[in-house]
Amino acid sequence: MTTKIDNAAKQFRFKKSLKLYKEAAKIIPAGVGSNARLWKTDCSIFSPCTVFIKKAVGSHIWDVDNNEYIDYRLGYGPVILGHSYKKVHDAVHKADEKGIVYAADNELIIEVAKAIRKFVPSMKMTRFANSGTEATMGAIRVARASTKKEKIIKFEGHYHGWHDAVAFSTKPGYTCPKRAIPASLGIPKVLSRYTIPTCWNNFEEIEKTVKKNHHDVAAIITEPVMGNAAAIPPKDGYLKHLRELCDTYGLLLIFDEVKTGFRLAKGGAQQVFGVTPDLSTFAKSLGNGYPIAAFGGREEVMSLIGPGKVMHGGTYSANPVSLNAAKTTLSELSRKDVWHHLHQYGKKMMRGIDTVLDDHKMPHVIHGFPTMFQFLFTDKEEITQYRELRFCDMKKFAKLQFELMKNGVMLDEDNEEAIYTSFTHSSADLYKTLEAFEDAIKIIP
Ligand SMILES: Cc1ncc(COP(=O)(O)O)c(C=O)c1O
Repeated sequence: MTTKIDNAAKQFRFKKSLKLYKEAAKIIPAGVGSNARLWKTDCSIFSPCTVFIKKAVGSHIWDVDNNEYIDYRLGYGPVILGHSYKKVHDAVHKADEKGIVYAADNELIIEVAKAIRKFVPSMKMTRFANSGTEATMGAIRVARASTKKEKIIKFEGHYHGWHDAVAFSTKPGYTCPKRAIPASLGIPKVLSRYTIPTCWNNFEEIEKTVKKNHHDVAAIITEPVMGNAAAIPPKDGYLKHLRELCDTYGLLLIFDEVKTGFRLAKGGAQQVFGVTPDLSTFAKSLGNGYPIAAFGGREEVMSLIGPGKVMHGGTYSANPVSLNAAKTTLSELSRKDVWHHLHQYGKKMMRGIDTVLDDHKMPHVIHGFPTMFQFLFTDKEEITQYRELRFCDMKKFAKLQFELMKNGVMLDEDNEEAIYTSFTHSSADLYKTLEAFEDAIKIIP
């Protein structure tokens, strides 16, 4: 394994992370527990690079070298209330004293399903799972059963987990041919026939794709905001356009709200944009970081799940510990002051970054929502599609990210990931973050 450490990084403490990474690589493939944890955009610290974390509390996170950061990755989004949020932590620990997995249900399953439906009225019926990957797998299966059709349409740059149906064109080259590009080795070639990728936010292209393929297509699955491509928002009317196409051509519309759910608003992106999907998936913010996910929607579709019909299972699905985490998280998210804080913090942070970049005459776009946004270094006035990310200087972003880390602020090194905020981020955090931006921006070319 080769590693490079640049001069700037030497001033920063990364010795233990590097040592652990080298040790991990001997027994853990690629040295990381999940591929995304291996930073790749010319990481200035060491390359390849990953940071080992010691603990996270509130809005802060500490690595094994004792560097402390204000955390804007928040576990790729779940930690909406803050790390180790006391009420959720207490509920979980009280629950685990009563056992963790029963091979039978606990009455909380009803309470949490009802709480979800209260937030998201389209979730007439819900099944629980443990990860976003499982949730999208379940939603696609039940959509196929309901429509008796087998193909799905997904969008370039949208990520719906790592199972075979959706592991296509998640991060294709920005100028690659327009076809299903497998995101992994080991996916049977034949499966590329069942997933039709197309370009998001392009009204004509999706219309053409639907008209051409609707006889075989069960569903369109979409992230309602591109949580995995720099938080690009939908164009005015685009989600409604998807809804209308699905209605006209007999397809189901699946909103993958794994990132947007309980983060953009109580009712997710479907509340913000006023478009009701047939099926939705949730995970991340549902449990403030505890592993719980949900998929659900229309009763006549979801009621196809059951013995002898659509298979869905899971030893850990709807376990009482995760349900307690979800119950407490949703209860906190029903508080007005939580949303007020989340929105105020995010708005001020977006405005602050915008101003710093303007002051330093760095052309950029900043877009998204106060709880999930991103900025891109670009001369373009707006970035609306995955392929347009080729007009953005992501290496510059990665350099800035490293300088920010040195200043105690942790963004993801991948510009396609979003910046997330939590209820626990404080005005002191905001002040320090913007100060760190001021200092870091002076150093990058
Ligand atoms: C929109 C979306 N869907 C699904 C997933 C998969 O979720 P998980 O990592 O919990 O399997 C992710 C993960 O980032 C996601 O962003």
